[in-house]
Amino acid sequence: MRLLFFAGATREGSYNKKLARLGQHIAEANGIEAVFVDLRDYPMPIYDGDLEAREGPPERAREFKALLCEFDGVFIASPEYNSSVTPLLKNTLDWVSRVREKGETGLEVFKSRVFAISGASPGYYGAMRSLLTLRQILTIGLGALVIPEQIAVPRAMDAFDADGSLKDKAQQELCKSVVEALAVAARKFGKSG
Ligand SMILES: Cc1cc2nc3c(=O)[nH]c(=O)nc-3n(C[C@H](O)[C@H](O)[C@H](O)COP(=O)(O)O)c2cc1C
Repeated sequence: MRLLFFAGATREGSYNKKLARLGQHIAEANGIEAVFVDLRDYPMPIYDGDLEAREGPPERAREFKALLCEFDGVFIASPEYNSSVTPLLKNTLDWVSRVREKGETGLEVFKSRVFAISGASPGYYGAMRSLLTLRQILTIGLGALVIPEQIAVPRAMDAFDADGSLKDKAQQELCKSVVEALAVAARKFGKSG
């Protein structure tokens, strides 16, 4: 059973990349094979139906879908932009949903693995509103199974220790429980389950 961790942000000092990396470290500490990936390594143009008709989905979308296929569970750390998810995250999910082999709807990759969602923001809601939107996109839009456990980290600029853990003990425990719940669900419902 393998877990993938990524954030809907590319920024060097991204709090959400920190949160995704923390999740990866927690998984590894629990003996789970876990990989962190940076969306900066998967640049894609903004979705354009004419571009798709001309050239099909970009190579990076195919590569990212192939990467997702290697994992049973996926942990996404989602920043909040104007009460919603980032265009980067939505665009990535949109393009991946358009990568279709013969006879596929494009959603198989989402329907056959388990997702956990999390977010961090400098505000007091901790990206909570982006999580509501992301849960809707993943479950209703893409047909994915998203576990109910989630974590929103408010005041993110003060939330992390130098070693990447969360200063607040309860928040650190919550992050652990989200990763553990993802691992349990991925064992049961992931591609190897
Ligand atoms: C266009 C834009 C809109 C934003 N809107 C929100 C918002 O609605 N709620 C919020 O908590 N933070 C908002 N922020 C601040 C982000 O949470 C902050 O930039 C955060 O650091 C982004 O995540 P990252 O650290 O992972 O890059 C916004 C930032 C940008 C650039």
